[in-house]
Amino acid sequence: MVSTVIPVRPFDLVIFGATGDLARRKILPGLYRRLAAGQMPTTARVIGAARSRMSQAEFREAARAALEEFVDAPALDAAQVDTFLATLDYVPVDATGEDGWAELAAKLGERPDHIRAFYMSVGPNLFGVIAERLAGCGLATPPSRIVVEKPLGHDLASARALNLELSKHFEEHQIYRIDHYLGKETVQNLMAIRFANAFFEPLWNSRHVEHVQITVAETVGVAGRGAYYDSAGAMRDMVQNHMMQLLCLTAMEPPARFEPDAVHDEKLKVIRALDPLTLADTVRGQYRGNNEDGSYHDHVDDPASRTESFVALRAHIANWRWAGTPFYLRTGKRLSARLSEIVVTFRQPPHTIFPQIEALKGNALIIRLQPGEGITMRVTIKEPGPGGMRLVEVPLDMTFADALAEVGDIPEAYERLILDVIRGDQTLFMRGDEVEAAWAWTDPIIRLWTESGSKPLLYDPGSAGPIEVYKLTSADGHLWREIAA
Ligand code: BG6
Repeated sequence: MVSTVIPVRPFDLVIFGATGDLARRKILPGLYRRLAAGQMPTTARVIGAARSRMSQAEFREAARAALEEFVDAPALDAAQVDTFLATLDYVPVDATGEDGWAELAAKLGERPDHIRAFYMSVGPNLFGVIAERLAGCGLATPPSRIVVEKPLGHDLASARALNLELSKHFEEHQIYRIDHYLGKETVQNLMAIRFANAFFEPLWNSRHVEHVQITVAETVGVAGRGAYYDSAGAMRDMVQNHMMQLLCLTAMEPPARFEPDAVHDEKLKVIRALDPLTLADTVRGQYRGNNEDGSYHDHVDDPASRTESFVALRAHIANWRWAGTPFYLRTGKRLSARLSEIVVTFRQPPHTIFPQIEALKGNALIIRLQPGEGITMRVTIKEPGPGGMRLVEVPLDMTFADALAEVGDIPEAYERLILDVIRGDQTLFMRGDEVEAAWAWTDPIIRLWTESGSKPLLYDPGSAGPIEVYKLTSADGHLWREIAA
């Protein structure tokens, strides 16, 4: 099986904040890989726009350094790198002033037939300002697109204000809100598995699904980004966006068509059907230090900070499909392994002819996002051998890298998403009302934490979070899966 590469149409992608971290780590390396794969046309132009006064040649050299740092050496082909660098251009632009806008407009005017996209790889305080400037110099034309990324607000009110600012100059169909989790291969596969196979859908409801666990565990701490993180915390940084999207794709009704609005409508219904959380549905934690690394407090400015670096939640979706099936979500920094997975655990068969079955964990579908993207089904079989009818649980494993070896490297989330912007396909992006609905669910619990005056529970680095997290599932008779790579 060889993956099919269909080149996109020629485009001009303007990257505001082109000298920043996201551009260096993800956007430029991602575009290079797509060019090397034959998907980005060599006539496309990637135009860096930032405040630094830099020449085109200097920008190209900076991009070369970024590729050398962030693209795996075997994928760096000298000729391809030169071809990619030749697509790069640079215009010094002052987002908050007048400088550079006329030059940018003139440059874009050279290729009126190109698809035009503006990637705002800058702080959210500049999204509205840049949108306004683009409109001011006639660049907010109907076919153009803007790309923005989290933080999309800090709460419901700020998210609404941001949506309003963007909507002054761009229609919803022109606004691409990135959640990079939606670009991960397995996340897209979740939809394929659910909606392209006949055997999951009849079981995909509370009659057959006992509970669902969604885990995004990280081993890294907040060192180096303490200032941002301390103003966000795990709830705003991970739950309101990435985990919410995973929850939506797991729980949503089959959309009538695989089209952006049909998919967004179904996701929105899930978010709106979430019961409000109570304090008893939540566990929040903060990591201690150990010999290798400091504690959470060592990496942030406020020595008394109560921001959570770990959160676990028990959510209920109040609709016909899911009433009675808890969805447990947990995410945190400095945990025992880097692991992101969705585990759908099925109920035991209605009648047991094997007494031992009670002691087994039961069928589960494990959808692994990272590391080693793939899908595993836990099934019960007879233990091989002459020892009588003893049962054992075994994994039916499908690791994509093995199963689809000939397809080659699985593209990174950003590669897929940037090309979707050029293709004009919003399916894997968030609509404004989804973002607002997610804040409407997370805001009250953040408020409850603050009002309760409680502190996050401390946990050891390398653990599975505060010990209290086990109570969340055991109260319902369930067990968390181990966080192990
Ligand atoms: C980002 C968060 O959005 O996602 C980070 O701000 C987090 O705190 C990261 O580390 C996780 O992404 P991934 O793709 O490494 O799982």
